Amino acid sequence: MTRDEARSKIIFALDVDTLDSARHWVTTLAGRVGMFKVGKQLFTAYGPDIVRMIENNGVEVFLDLKYHDIPNTVAMASREAARLQVKLFNLHALGGYDMMARTMEMMEREFPAENRSKVLAVTILTSSTEETLREVGIEHPVTEMVPRLAKLAQKAGIDGVVASPREVALIREACGSDFLIVTPGVRPSFAASDDQKRIMTPAEAVAAGADYLVIGRPISAAADPLRAVEAIVDEIAAA
Ligand code: C5P
Repeated sequence: MTRDEARSKIIFALDVDTLDSARHWVTTLAGRVGMFKVGKQLFTAYGPDIVRMIENNGVEVFLDLKYHDIPNTVAMASREAARLQVKLFNLHALGGYDMMARTMEMMEREFPAENRSKVLAVTILTSSTEETLREVGIEHPVTEMVPRLAKLAQKAGIDGVVASPREVALIREACGSDFLIVTPGVRPSFAASDDQKRIMTPAEAVAAGADYLVIGRPISAAADPLRAVEAIVDEIAAA
């Protein structure tokens, strides 16, 4: 893989709480990573302006708001995300088939296929254990629920999933090569694992079948963030 292809696979997790800090990372990393992930904290504080600010710097956005509501509400929220022209946004597969299918029917009806946002499903949050699932009445193991929900999402027309590195191979097998897989919990060989437990290196995650890697602290907490990005690009390119 070329270094540019490797770079385009990196999604920087913009986990900051001020507009100034967001601007700092956008200007520092524009052109060096493929995308920025905006989550609930930043979006709740600054709203769509944060997305526009990033896009105005020529960088693409993964809007990580994980919609989960009645089908019509999720479809309408998704329409607004797509109007912001984000590259990726997501919803919870546990919202069910109808919620996902209604959303994808709206997407296909209202946005041109070539440049519409891609929609990802979250299967089971990686913070959930078998115990978490039992508490809410789900008696199946995580390893069974993840491919089951990924297949349901694919059947509803969803473009891909967010998945932990250890689930990538399972999902590739269940959903084939045409389904996007975005993977957080990636740690380059030079970085600390922080609070991430089931980690893989960027090279391992790409080799297992990940299309994009969400990476935050290995870049943001590095003594030299730009050097960290280039080291990660090297690792992916060598995969
Ligand atoms: O700093 P770090 O590389 O751990 O950041 C990873 C990002 O991916 C964070 O924004 C985190 O919330 C998100 N994420 C994750 N694990 C998941 C889902 C999302 O680490 N299972």
